[in-house]
Amino acid sequence: MAASSATLQKPTLNVEVRLRNNASSTAFLRTDLIREEVTDWLCKNFLSLKIDQELTGFDSLSHGDVIESIRVVDSSSALDSDASIHRLDETHLAVQAYELHDAEDDPAPRPAKPSVGEENEDEEESPQLRITRLPSKSLNGLWDALVFEDGIPAKLLKYTTRMMAMMRRPSLDMAVVSWNRLLLLHGPPGSGKTTLCRALSQKLAIRLGHHFTQGRLVEVNSQTLLSRWFGESGKLVAKAFESICSVAEDESTLVCVLIDEVETLTGSREKASTGSECGDALRATNQLLTALDRLRYRSNVIVLCTSNLFGAIDSAFLDRVDIKQHVSNPCPKAAYEILRTCINELIRCNVLTPDDELCGTTNKGHTAAAAAAAEEDEETPHSFSDEAHMSDWDVVEYRSIPPLAVMDIHLWDRPDAPARKLWGIAERCAGLSGRALRRLPGQAIALHTHGESCTVAEGLAALSVAVDEELGATGGQ
Ligand SMILES: Nc1ncnc2c1ncn2[C@@H]1O[C@H](COP(=O)(O)OP(=O)(O)OP(=O)(O)O)[C@@H](O)[C@H]1O
Ligand SMILES: [Mg+2]
Repeated sequence: MAASSATLQKPTLNVEVRLRNNASSTAFLRTDLIREEVTDWLCKNFLSLKIDQELTGFDSLSHGDVIESIRVVDSSSALDSDASIHRLDETHLAVQAYELHDAEDDPAPRPAKPSVGEENEDEEESPQLRITRLPSKSLNGLWDALVFEDGIPAKLLKYTTRMMAMMRRPSLDMAVVSWNRLLLLHGPPGSGKTTLCRALSQKLAIRLGHHFTQGRLVEVNSQTLLSRWFGESGKLVAKAFESICSVAEDESTLVCVLIDEVETLTGSREKASTGSECGDALRATNQLLTALDRLRYRSNVIVLCTSNLFGAIDSAFLDRVDIKQHVSNPCPKAAYEILRTCINELIRCNVLTPDDELCGTTNKGHTAAAAAAAEEDEETPHSFSDEAHMSDWDVVEYRSIPPLAVMDIHLWDRPDAPARKLWGIAERCAGLSGRALRRLPGQAIALHTHGESCTVAEGLAALSVAVDEELGATGGQ
């Protein structure tokens, strides 16, 4: 019975209200009032909302002059279904209001330098902690640019948001209900782990805006915490975490700590004690574990770690990790999407010019449902005239390469269409990392075409060669 009542719960539809730059400094701004007003406006004016929908017509609101944009971002039900349209009477609306801050770092409290010997200039200049105010302009758009199968980002965001909110209940006894506030993303190099952690921090700051008045992303530079002076690494780790604790002192500040390449600091102690490695690394690991045990009592902190050497991580650290998420290289669908967004960006900037092949025809035999599905997509061809739309809409023209779902509907009978060619390339990209895929379109044009600008067809031919070269260089993997 409990299970059926749980399934009857309304899913949450998240709407993000982005405020104009410096909105909070130019006016006495109450984001709670903005959230309330927008929620009210949505309920009175809309029967349903669509994921990714940009809403207009908010100028008449009393806070209209400080609002930059309103966007429907996601729904908790989207984890279980692909539905993109949501009836408001069947969902719980969660409106978040936020302002993006400038990319400049906050002055970070630095751990003291090692007491032994002289550090050289380079080491002095390399900060052990980098602190960014959240939500940050520099992280804007990162979340949307990530393409993962199985909805990994959405699941992580839902989990962390709910856990952070749950663990903020003042009366909760942390000795009974345990949560270490520790997530680990592991997987091959270039699969997007660091980017996902940064994007997740940004999203958390937005989504938990009603719990915290401000946010900070604290990035720990693991390499700089390993000293060449015997016995110093443990002290450096301890000092770095003291600094993190001072940032987290104010409980109304959400603090997302990112420890990249965590295996550097949490090398297996079993190996260190039996091998030739000195006990310094062992002390660093012990210090980190102690620091993490202290941080778990701070309701405003979450620690996100990445590693591409899972096997090298200390078992006591792994035991503390709440969620271990493997992040793999993109599947063909994700590869298509990454390559597609790169190529469309090159088209937008006139590096690639659309050619006739970007046009396609549709088959008149398509079902109304397929047509509706295509129309729902924002990137459906722009050139539908009303007339064509009303009759049989058999000529379509793309100014950019369409998403996979649209390709399936409109271009199934056009093997020469760029989207079809790109799909053929994406299918060959198994084993290539997201990093390589983001690099290859630009690199292909630079290496394998001539002149300032070339056509999309020429760009795709160059990309095909570049993919073959990359697969050859990485041993076909
Ligand atoms: N799944 C993906 N979707 C979109 N872009 C991706 C994806 N994976 C990687 N990228 C892009 O590749 C680049 C490198 O990603 P990132 O640094 O996050 O990888 P990583 O897993 O942390 O790598 P490493 O293990 O080497 O540190 C970024 O520019 C990112 O945008
Ligand atoms: Mg990384």
